[in-house]
Amino acid sequence: MIESQVQAAIDQFEIKTEKLNEIVDFFVSEAAKGLAEDKPRTMPMIPTFVTKIPTGKEKGLFLAADLGGSNFRVCSVHLNGDSTHTMKQMKWAVPHEMMVGNADQFWKYLAERTHEFLDNYHLEEKNDHKDKDQKLSMGFTFSFPVHQTGINRGTLIRWTKGYDIKDAVGTDVCVAYQDALDAHGIPVHVASMVNDTVGCLLTRSYETGSNSQTVIGAILGTGSNAAYSDRIIRILKLDQYSEETKKQIEGKKVMIVNTEWGSFDNDLKILPNTQVDKEVNLETPNRDFHMFEKRVSGMFLGEIVRRTLEHLYSAKAIFTEAEIAKDSKFYSVWSNDSSFLSIVRADASNDLKDVGAQLAKLGVPQTTMEERKAVAALSHAIGLRSARLMASVLAGLLKKTRSFEKFDIVDIGVDGAVIEYYPHFEDMIREALREIDAIGPEKEKRITIGLSQDGSGIGGALSAAMTTH
Ligand code: GLC
Repeated sequence: MIESQVQAAIDQFEIKTEKLNEIVDFFVSEAAKGLAEDKPRTMPMIPTFVTKIPTGKEKGLFLAADLGGSNFRVCSVHLNGDSTHTMKQMKWAVPHEMMVGNADQFWKYLAERTHEFLDNYHLEEKNDHKDKDQKLSMGFTFSFPVHQTGINRGTLIRWTKGYDIKDAVGTDVCVAYQDALDAHGIPVHVASMVNDTVGCLLTRSYETGSNSQTVIGAILGTGSNAAYSDRIIRILKLDQYSEETKKQIEGKKVMIVNTEWGSFDNDLKILPNTQVDKEVNLETPNRDFHMFEKRVSGMFLGEIVRRTLEHLYSAKAIFTEAEIAKDSKFYSVWSNDSSFLSIVRADASNDLKDVGAQLAKLGVPQTTMEERKAVAALSHAIGLRSARLMASVLAGLLKKTRSFEKFDIVDIGVDGAVIEYYPHFEDMIREALREIDAIGPEKEKRITIGLSQDGSGIGGALSAAMTTH
């Protein structure tokens, strides 16, 4: 029997069907607001200036740089023109002091890593292009909210996912990266800039070719977000953009929109808001923003579990026999990785030994079977809440785009560690989709969900390819 206080902690993460439906409808109206006007607290719904979707036939060698979470990656992607590709890449963990330091230092760091990659894999091409006007073409996958004014122009709205380089906010990130590359004499032209969700959508479209219609690219990793394609006439706020900006899209019909749904319902009109959700928000540099993301994504799930356990322990509702050291991870903010939830969910042993091992790593040396069961139930509840919230915004986007009226099969490309590694995550999303009025069991069967691994790398290259094709 799970102790009643623990059960109450678990129950607060439950999201009933009725709530799912409310979220769907609220999402649809918030999305419309975001497309009509830019306001600081509404969902950004960012026009990306990507006006084409790959067909699978794109060809050539393109570079991609990818800054998304804690890693920076540079790759070269060879698109074979038949939905396949080959890739070379190097990856670095961005030092924490860079993530919260100053902009000049940061862009210099990225340029130096880019140089390192070229010297390692493309020395010949680098030297070849050095004296020519024709530089190597690169797509920059930059996975933060950027107010774009062109395919390779855009100012940073705010940082998310723990980054906090204050003097970069409001500056053009594409220009800053290009300037740093130029200062190092690196013959690379940043031809395009895309969000990882856009990369995901492009990659999935390239890989499935004309076989299916990918309508959404969604990420659930360190952060969470989605991109989809909309008719340009529906993106009302484009009207307020400068004439010069508007010229770039003359004659075009559709454009990919980066929703930045991490910032859906920043005012918490409808999302659940537990005591622990409130505390987690206070620990983040982007306080009171990206409130949806803070309930679903990898950066937060482990911390939500840890904090809930800390509260239960201090209320003497769990681990009553355990001696937990004050300097252990158990008491330390952000110390519990979200892999905790995936490992706990996957533990099928009789004595829940992996749950015990995860707790020991956190600093709870000994646990009873009852406690391990309670922790597993709590961790599942937090994972399930994430999946159900994801289902409701996906359903909102499908409803908004009227996808089921347009296509027989509605395809969603997904990427990110939570969706990839949390066992049965897709099943949990599907179950919620069946409960939602706007989808239901019939339409749910018409949805395909496919992992578009490495959409950030391939998608970056594809976006560069499409500027030349
Ligand atoms: C955060 C970023 C967004 C990105 C997402 C997934 O929400 O703001 O741009 O797409 O994380 O990486």
